[in-house]
Amino acid sequence: MEERLVSSEADSGETFIEQSLRPQNLAQYIGQDKVKENLKVFIEAAKMRGETLDHVLLYGPPGLGKTTLATIIANEMGVNIRTTSGPAIERPGDLAAVLTALEPGDVLFIDEIHRLHRSIEEVLYPAMEDFCLDIVIGKGSSARSVRLDLPPFTLIGATTRVGLLTAPLRDRFGVLSRLEYYNEKQLAHIIERTADILGIGIEYDGAIEMARRSRGTPRIANRLLRRVRDFAQVIGNETITNELAVGALEKLQVDKLGLDHIDHKLLLGIIEKFRGGPVGIDTISATIGEESHTIEDVYEPYLLQIGFLQRTPRGRIVTDLVYRHFQMEVPKND
Ligand code: ADE
Repeated sequence: MEERLVSSEADSGETFIEQSLRPQNLAQYIGQDKVKENLKVFIEAAKMRGETLDHVLLYGPPGLGKTTLATIIANEMGVNIRTTSGPAIERPGDLAAVLTALEPGDVLFIDEIHRLHRSIEEVLYPAMEDFCLDIVIGKGSSARSVRLDLPPFTLIGATTRVGLLTAPLRDRFGVLSRLEYYNEKQLAHIIERTADILGIGIEYDGAIEMARRSRGTPRIANRLLRRVRDFAQVIGNETITNELAVGALEKLQVDKLGLDHIDHKLLLGIIEKFRGGPVGIDTISATIGEESHTIEDVYEPYLLQIGFLQRTPRGRIVTDLVYRHFQMEVPKND
């Protein structure tokens, strides 16, 4: 049971390379300065008191480093991390199995915590508040409740959709940290750090070019770096220059703002089929053949952030910036 529900960092299906690229402590972690500064204080204070760190909720768009930060928090506290996710916990008993296997002080990381079932959340409340588990034994008139003590632990929840968390769950986290998109300089720094670990030469102009097209997201920056490295390797270049990066990114169909063919399909679809909107998310989904929640979780947040899309009660609208980006005539308001 534990094998299926809980994976340590080492067996979570990530490649060894991806894991070795991840920063291991706060000092190595680039960006998210406010979150980092606060966490540093909370970690130090908890350590001084000899207590576990209060429960932490990390939220924000995908790829910004929520899992990485959870691992770093565990490292900084000097404890083990156990990892699971909302959809992996199907029954209250699954969560009970995870909780009773914890060692004192452990971090329990629940990714996609907004996908936890309500009945499972209820098991989590006393576990978070009083480090105990209320389990019902037997059925009908002979049913009775038994209270089990748990070791003190820190729950770190991660979500891309904080709005979907129920208020009672959200309120039980002592630390709520929102991760923001990274700026170009921070992403260039991350790309240089990764290139260094991978043993690739890179000029700053090359790193900036990739940073500009990484949608504010380190996961994308590192992925682009690996693909651009492939181009460099095949043509026999030892160093990634700006020119090489531009050529490779064009071949990868990543445009100057980092938008790919799915973003293009989404934006052009709204323009061509719905005269720029407003149009509902399910209609967009059916038109472009991507799931609504993938559009909402993965594509939309960045398009909203750069002002290309607006959400209105009647649906999504593309802004003038999109017409300019595609060098199309901006429609006149009627
Ligand atoms: N790799 C991915 N995200 C990172 C970050 N925030 N800092 C350093 N390296 C990273």
